[in-house]
Amino acid sequence: MSPDVAAPTPKLLVVDDEPSMRDMLRIVLRRDGYDVTVASNGREALAAMEHGFFDLLLTDIRLPDIDGVQVLREAKVRHRDTVALMMTAYASTETAVEAMRLGAADYFIKPFNMDELRLKVRSHLEARRLRVENVLLKRVLETSHSFENIVGRSPAMLEIFSMVETIAATPSTVLVTGESGTGKDLIARAIHAHSLRKDHPFVALNCGAVPETLLESELFGHMRGAFTGADANKKGLIEAAERGTVFLDEIGEMNATMQVKLLRVLQERRFRRLGGTDEVHADIRVIAATNQDLTKAVAEGRFREDLFYRINVIQIHLPPLRDRREDIPLIAARFLDRFAERLGKRVRGISQEAMALIEAYAWPGNVRELENAIERAVALERTETVLPESLPPHVRAGGDRSPVQVAKLPEGAFDLEAHVDQIYRDHITEALAKAGGVQVRAAELLGMTFRSFRYYAKKFNLR
Ligand SMILES: Nc1ncnc2c1ncn2[C@@H]1O[C@H](COP(=O)(O)OP(=O)(O)OP(=O)(O)O)[C@@H](O)[C@H]1O
Ligand SMILES: [Mg+2]
Repeated sequence: MSPDVAAPTPKLLVVDDEPSMRDMLRIVLRRDGYDVTVASNGREALAAMEHGFFDLLLTDIRLPDIDGVQVLREAKVRHRDTVALMMTAYASTETAVEAMRLGAADYFIKPFNMDELRLKVRSHLEARRLRVENVLLKRVLETSHSFENIVGRSPAMLEIFSMVETIAATPSTVLVTGESGTGKDLIARAIHAHSLRKDHPFVALNCGAVPETLLESELFGHMRGAFTGADANKKGLIEAAERGTVFLDEIGEMNATMQVKLLRVLQERRFRRLGGTDEVHADIRVIAATNQDLTKAVAEGRFREDLFYRINVIQIHLPPLRDRREDIPLIAARFLDRFAERLGKRVRGISQEAMALIEAYAWPGNVRELENAIERAVALERTETVLPESLPPHVRAGGDRSPVQVAKLPEGAFDLEAHVDQIYRDHITEALAKAGGVQVRAAELLGMTFRSFRYYAKKFNLR
């Protein structure tokens, strides 16, 4: 940590049975200042690991004796934080995906670009160094209660703050997960703001809100005449974000075709505009977010596994607010100040009784719901402190509100379908109101996919 102690030279183990490849890697990586050991098969690699520790392992998957995946496994057993990079000559990435599952950090399909490999080696080693340092850093950071405008003092949030600082500087793709309203957006912006890309654009795209037919042209841009209505060339968001960050929100909503295209961008850092012939290079950092369980989506075949591994390089999970209750009073107080000022009201505090209700409530809509409740309370409050009466009824009612009613067949004529329609209409309207009109969030509150939400919203003409 202390700046006057030089970092030791990273030790690399390169395993490839092809002599020319091995020599080339040795020469190039030595020139980059690493301490490089080479092995021409799996056994030699294992022997080398017996004698020394390596910061990074770069191995071909297909080796004459023991395969590279086995070498990877052995390396991980010896040192969990050895960075492992795999090379494969086969277009099929199945084994590579298997390797990622076993903890490989990345893979290269031969023939690959040597400069890209050098860059990846450097950035993975840098990320590893930061991870190690971070353990020390954490102790220093323990006192921090607010990061950017993100408030929190729960151990989970403190860990997230230091994680954001650590990973911001790396070029790695980040996946931010968590329920709706937990602050994924805020975290994505904080990562960008702390990164070397901070002076370049941060461009956000909600993959769930853009119609599927437009998503591709939004991301990649299009050439004039690419489709009806494309009357001029248009830059896509990836080009607009050049040297900055692209934030792909609700990535779980992306359809299969787009998933393939995105995978290609992440793998090769190049793409083609819709209707275009030229390949465009993309210098972007990608941050993705989702409130879905992507591993489940992968298991169900709704999300590509190879894309998942490409995105899930670093994951930041935001726990629901109910699992970090110590943050609630802090965040509530912050919102109180904000809205009192914004609405020009002299509301200075939250009464003990109101705070007890706020702390006891489950906040299914997380921080966003808390934000809306405080805004409402400040607007309604006629005294200097927020009293329970100004809180939304369901917060005031505590945990014993049951929205589900037991069905009873009414006397006389009854139309079940109309009745069910009415239930849908009411719940969707309420969810939309709670979500501040944002459909993706309303869908989440109802436990619906965005797709079916849209269907019903359209059916009942609700916006
Ligand atoms: N820890 C926090 N401190 C202060 N404000 C927060 C915090 N977390 C979230 N917020 C605020 O709560 C609101 C919701 O956060 P955000 O939009 O980042 O959530 P999200 O996880 O992206 O939700 P969704 O999945 O619905 O898109 C925002 O207004 C944000 O500023
Ligand atoms: Mg969001």
